[in-house]
Amino acid sequence: MDMSYVIVAALFVLSPLLLFHALLKSTTAEPPLLKGRIPLLGVALDFVNGPQPLLERARKKYGWIFTLYIGGRRMTVVSDPVVGMRQVYSQSRNFDAHAFFKYLNIQLFKYTPRINSDAAFQEALLRHVVSYLAAPANVEEIASVMRKEYRALVDENSDLCTGDYADRNGTVVDLYNFARQKTYIAAAIAVFGKAFPAKEIYTDYITYEDSLSRFIKSYPYIFNKRGVDARGRVLEYLADFFTDNEKSSQSSSFITGISDLFRKFGYLSPDDLSGYFLSIVFASKSNSVPMAFWYLAFIIHDEQFRGEVMKIITSHYNSTTQDFDWQALYRDELLNSAFKETARLVSNITSGRVVCRDSMIKIADSKAPSSTKEFYLRKGDSVLVLASMSHWDGEAFPEPMLWNARRFMPENSGKLIKHDKASKDGDPQWKAYIPWGGGGHMCPGRHLAIVEAITQLVYVLWYFDVEKLSADVPQMNVGENYGSGVLKPSSTYNVRFRRREAPATKA
Ligand code: HEM
Ligand SMILES: *[C@@H]1O[C@H](CO)[C@@H](O)[C@H](O)[C@H]1NC(C)=O
Ligand SMILES: *[C@@H]1O[C@H](CO)[C@@H](O)[C@H](O)[C@H]1NC(C)=O
Ligand SMILES: *[C@@H]1O[C@H](CO)[C@@H](O)[C@H](O)[C@H]1NC(C)=O
Repeated sequence: MDMSYVIVAALFVLSPLLLFHALLKSTTAEPPLLKGRIPLLGVALDFVNGPQPLLERARKKYGWIFTLYIGGRRMTVVSDPVVGMRQVYSQSRNFDAHAFFKYLNIQLFKYTPRINSDAAFQEALLRHVVSYLAAPANVEEIASVMRKEYRALVDENSDLCTGDYADRNGTVVDLYNFARQKTYIAAAIAVFGKAFPAKEIYTDYITYEDSLSRFIKSYPYIFNKRGVDARGRVLEYLADFFTDNEKSSQSSSFITGISDLFRKFGYLSPDDLSGYFLSIVFASKSNSVPMAFWYLAFIIHDEQFRGEVMKIITSHYNSTTQDFDWQALYRDELLNSAFKETARLVSNITSGRVVCRDSMIKIADSKAPSSTKEFYLRKGDSVLVLASMSHWDGEAFPEPMLWNARRFMPENSGKLIKHDKASKDGDPQWKAYIPWGGGGHMCPGRHLAIVEAITQLVYVLWYFDVEKLSADVPQMNVGENYGSGVLKPSSTYNVRFRRREAPATKA
């Protein structure tokens, strides 16, 4: 009898899994590997120096899946809009988000280890967050406070619009600083309540946020002193706030629900509370605040479109109630199209997952998208989905670097967004638009984010005539921030505000 037959048979009896494993590897391909020239370091230097060119080159050469070998670790980049990215998002049994977040929870937010390793608790918290923010009435509860606070920050007759927060007639402001401060404060008070020390924390919080990539890359303290110290002060404020029942009970029911879960699970130490709540401040502000700025900046810069927006805003003002029909504004098709386009252009979002068991992933051929091929992924590797690779792909979004407010209007389907429907000739539909991620960890704050951006837009254009003083909307600041979220502008965008003789709005 043929010897190899015996061995195979023996293996089969002894360990079906082992045999399965061997066959898996021999019959199926792993993704193409970019290992660079330097042992262990791999393509790390190229990646740090210019991730986008490296990724673009790799995609042109290898298609919609390839693996980067960086510092001894393997990271597989999936950018297949047909079937690939969807599997990363939805197959949570193979691709684990929590294992990926665990590192960031400690590194960025200082979760206590006992909370970070309590999976049931994290699951309960996430369920609350997701179900709360999915209900329109709850989003409106937060939005109504946000509107009141935002209006007070721009209305010169309000006490809030003084000192640093005053925008006098004729002043020149950098729109990013302006928008960042106002949305941050208004939205933080809306989510965390009247007693939340939003203003006291602001400067330290933005110092911390601007040091993000240093935290992610674990810079030693001496190279991230400002960031670490600022975070320390923010954590102290948060601990103080969330252990003081009188203050925290004034929060939105979103936050009081979270506090109840902490009590139920018996986590009551200040450190348990402050680390988790820092992650909530971060999740709810780090992307939505710069997004609301870009939205405003692109609209202000496009004067013709701004005129149309002004008409929409005016048409929803009711002079009897002295208020806007906010629900109609939030639903408005054109304002939504402009928001989606902004999110497409500026979200440098990374979704990371850890491959938690040997897995297969089906990937479409970028040259012939209706045919697919399976690839093998090793347990322990990481898989990355980078929104920018998909959003800046000219094959999906023609003239991808151009902001076009009407791109997401129904009449532009198939034109300014390609492949968004399956065609008769068998071309599959693409799902290339992923600013919120997807699957079980899709951003639960997406409805709130749109509401925040539209609220700011309406009040700024209502209270001020805005004269643009910069020739262009700033470039996005990528550099070492690659993949770390909605990008910040790389330069100032100066505008002059002149107070309009606008009809009153209700306090
Ligand atoms: C423009 C603004 C925003 C953008 C672009 C954004 C983007 C994202 C993305 C891409 C994810 C998924 C990450 C992944 O798949 O690994 C995510 C998760 C999350 N976002 Fe947002 N987000 C925004 C605003 C908000 C707001 C306002 C909140 C408010 C409360 C929020 C809360 C969260 C939370 C709690 C998660 C984690 C969900 C989970 O682990 O399942 N986000 N966000
Ligand atoms: C304005 O609000 C008043 C009071 O709610 C309402 O009766 C009226 O119909 C509204 N006007 C418009 C134009 O919607
Ligand atoms: C993400 O970062 C890369 C790195 O260069 C940048 O070129 C692309 O510019 C960013 N993508 C988005 C959508 O912001
Ligand atoms: C703001 O200043 C301009 C002149 O620069 C003036 O025409 C306008 O009436 C002023 N608006 C208010 C509300 O004071």
